Amino acid sequence: MAEVSNPGALRRFFRWFFSPSARWSVFALLVVGCLVGATAVIGTQVALHVTGTDEFCGTACHSHEKFVFPEHKLSAHYNNRTGVRASCHDCHIPHSYPKVLFYKAKAGITDAIAEMRGSISTQEKFDKERWRLANLVWDEMRENNSANCRTCHDPLAWESTKQSEEAVKAHKKFTSGKATCIECHTGVAHKEPEAPKAP
Ligand code: HEC
Ligand code: HEC
Ligand code: HEC
Repeated sequence: MAEVSNPGALRRFFRWFFSPSARWSVFALLVVGCLVGATAVIGTQVALHVTGTDEFCGTACHSHEKFVFPEHKLSAHYNNRTGVRASCHDCHIPHSYPKVLFYKAKAGITDAIAEMRGSISTQEKFDKERWRLANLVWDEMRENNSANCRTCHDPLAWESTKQSEEAVKAHKKFTSGKATCIECHTGVAHKEPEAPKAP
């Protein structure tokens, strides 16, 4: 059994890795495990928080700082009578776990690549891409029945006597499942994007 008495480095490593520890008590190992787990959980929360502010989403990328954030700042979702603000992530990032983690990881990678390639680095490029990007957002919101809008605007809390007749009539289409918020309310934080003119 020469092979076993003189195992390769990899095999030695695995044997060491999976054999019970002689030096460390189970308690010490548990403490280390808990520390590693806690660091991962806290680290994730801090990362989500830091990358979830308007400052980060609105200014980390040149394109957002220049074209997207200034429009958001002019909308009723930024400053308004009651001082309730809707931030980028309130509308654009899922609110439930673990969805938010996968979504942010994916968006982070695609957005970073697009930013590095400068795909919307100038006004001209942004205008050209805007319709496509807006449609990605609309598709997502149509698919989830405008879930993010409804985290703040709860139709069950609608007081119809305080809405215009027109709004009450239109909102029946939502309650009966015939239309979702985003089909009627586009351009609520940005300039209404225009469909490209037929060539
Ligand atoms: C973080 C909470 C929040 C989220 C998320 C949110 N809103 Fe709002 N929304 C508000 C507040 C607060 C106001 C009231 C602003 C005011 O006092 O004028 C408002 C106002 C509005 C208005 C009336 C003013 C306007 O801009 O026309 C519409 C329409 C509206 N929201 C639609 C939406 C839609 C559609 C979504 C999803 C894409 C959405 N909201 C997401 C909080 C939110
Ligand atoms: C079928 C179209 C339609 C759908 C679907 C719809 N709305 Fe509206 N909404 C309207 C119309 C029309 C008005 C009135 C606009 C006005 O008075 O200027 C309105 C008004 C509003 C207002 C302003 C109310 C006020 O008194 O200032 C808010 C906020 C709003 N809608 C949010 C939503 C949200 C959130 C959803 C989804 C849960 C939704 N709407 C679904 C058409 C719709
Ligand atoms: C109240 C909800 C809301 C907020 C707040 C919001 N967005 Fe949007 N965003 C939308 C919707 C809805 C669209 C789809 C186009 C439209 O209807 O304006 C969109 C579109 C976009 C687009 C595609 C290009 C375009 O203009 O259509 C980008 C990029 C974007 N948002 C980034 C941001 C960033 C960055 C912030 C914060 C600085 C932000 N958004 C804040 C709802 C929001």
